[in-house]
Amino acid sequence: MLQVFKTIGRVAAAQEPVLVIGESGTGKELVANAIHRSSSRSDKPFVKVNSAALSSTLLESEMFGHERGSFTGAITQRAGRFEQANGGTLFLDEIGDMDIDLQVKLLRVLQTGQIERVGGERTIQTDVRIISATNRDLEAKIAVGRFREDLFYRLNVLTVNLPPLRERRDDIPLLAEHVLRRLARKYGWPQLALSHDAAALLSASNWPGNVRELQNVLARAAILSRGRNIQLSDLQVGTASAGAGRDPRSGRFILAPGILAETERRVIAQALEQAGWNRTRAAHLLELGRRQLFDKIQQYGLHQ
Ligand SMILES: Nc1ncnc2c1ncn2[C@@H]1O[C@H](COP(=O)(O)OP(=O)(O)OP(=O)(O)O)[C@@H](O)[C@H]1O
Ligand SMILES: [Mg+2]
Repeated sequence: MLQVFKTIGRVAAAQEPVLVIGESGTGKELVANAIHRSSSRSDKPFVKVNSAALSSTLLESEMFGHERGSFTGAITQRAGRFEQANGGTLFLDEIGDMDIDLQVKLLRVLQTGQIERVGGERTIQTDVRIISATNRDLEAKIAVGRFREDLFYRLNVLTVNLPPLRERRDDIPLLAEHVLRRLARKYGWPQLALSHDAAALLSASNWPGNVRELQNVLARAAILSRGRNIQLSDLQVGTASAGAGRDPRSGRFILAPGILAETERRVIAQALEQAGWNRTRAAHLLELGRRQLFDKIQQYGLHQ
């Protein structure tokens, strides 16, 4: 994280475009925001566009604005995100999902800083710093013709790489502490803390959902522990996070108290999920009798 902070400081001072690359939940938006706030544009707007959320046509008018009557539904004239961000920073989130036609238009705008509203004739000069983010491998997309190489080079002048949490496990205790402190303040839980075993499990888990998943797991655990000392059994690390409960280096299980019950609980939860919460099917998957499974569900308080 310290390395990322240093990079943020360095790129913030520049005016060039920044590309933030990282898996889902690694903090790309947080970083984009931090770059803007540490830049000379901090008193100007920070405007976000999510390229994945809208169809190509809507995204175009969202970004560049439109004139009245330019398409059905365009009853008023509207300034686009580029204009709104003038003087400040425009954050293009999920850039890897942007339609190829729109990529061409974006490239042209980035080259000149000039935009035209959809259905408009006027050229509007803007001064916008671009930060884009992606969880996709843009180079792979370029190779199959889904992302324009020239746009990639335009956007990727400065790069911030956010490694997945499992590749920077030293950050986990710090992040956990930060999240718990915030939860404690928010809910008025002065005794909220992490037991030794629980901390060990957090550090050993794989976190496919990265920091966001860590936050969610801790928020749930804090509630289950009633705002006290979080135990291993309070942690419901996602079933997707294979390897949880194992030491990543040796691959061996962490023999923390309650590990057997905890493992059983997770296996059953996973089977239920896989079976779409159909208990008969889940019992079949586990080669358990239905009655046996029902008892376990009761015992572990599992529910959808
Ligand atoms: N270093 C950090 N310190 C504190 N909180 C963090 C840190 N990194 C990420 N977070 C938190 O994790 C959550 C996910 O971060 P963010 O939304 O920026 O990720 P993202 O990479 O944009 O995810 P996605 O690809 O899913 O959009 C946010 O709640 C954010 O505040
Ligand atoms: Mg994001």
